[in-house]
Amino acid sequence: MVERGYQYKKMAKDEEIVNSDKPEDEYIDSPKRRDFMTAVIGGAAALYGTGIGYIILRYLSTGVEVAQDTATLNVKVDKAADLANNSATMFQFGVKPGLLIKDEAGELHAYSAVCKHLGCTVAYQPEQKRIFCACHGGVYDYKTGKNVAGPPPEPLDVLKVNKAKDGIYITKS
Ligand code: FES
Repeated sequence: MVERGYQYKKMAKDEEIVNSDKPEDEYIDSPKRRDFMTAVIGGAAALYGTGIGYIILRYLSTGVEVAQDTATLNVKVDKAADLANNSATMFQFGVKPGLLIKDEAGELHAYSAVCKHLGCTVAYQPEQKRIFCACHGGVYDYKTGKNVAGPPPEPLDVLKVNKAKDGIYITKS
């Protein structure tokens, strides 16, 4: 039945071609054209799938690397010795930036400097005595890391400050 329907369609097409002054190749339902479109769509789907796979793999592997990395870190911050009261310095904590603040009383506070909103790097502003994220105006308390204004949904990750004979070390708290 399907075969007969196809034959009728083909006959109708042939008749149309004969009765027309258009070139014959405009009427041809070209297998080449169909194959080309199938290849294009198949290629696009393969690229899309590969891209999604890569993103998922990268996300998962990054999480594992960071978790293993920061869990065992013990970073010495050389600049801590020269830090004046009410000032700060940045340091590398694994693959992320860290922020070490010496408050006006000389007490040290360390945080991951990665903003909890969208991941920009935060900085200490001594005039306002606050940790500020310039991306969207996020504000954190400099003594606790608590989010106090703007879009950040949660406090900064607090790091532990360890005083040793040879300097200041930062570890995960
Ligand atoms: Fe920090 Fe948006 S990324 S406030």
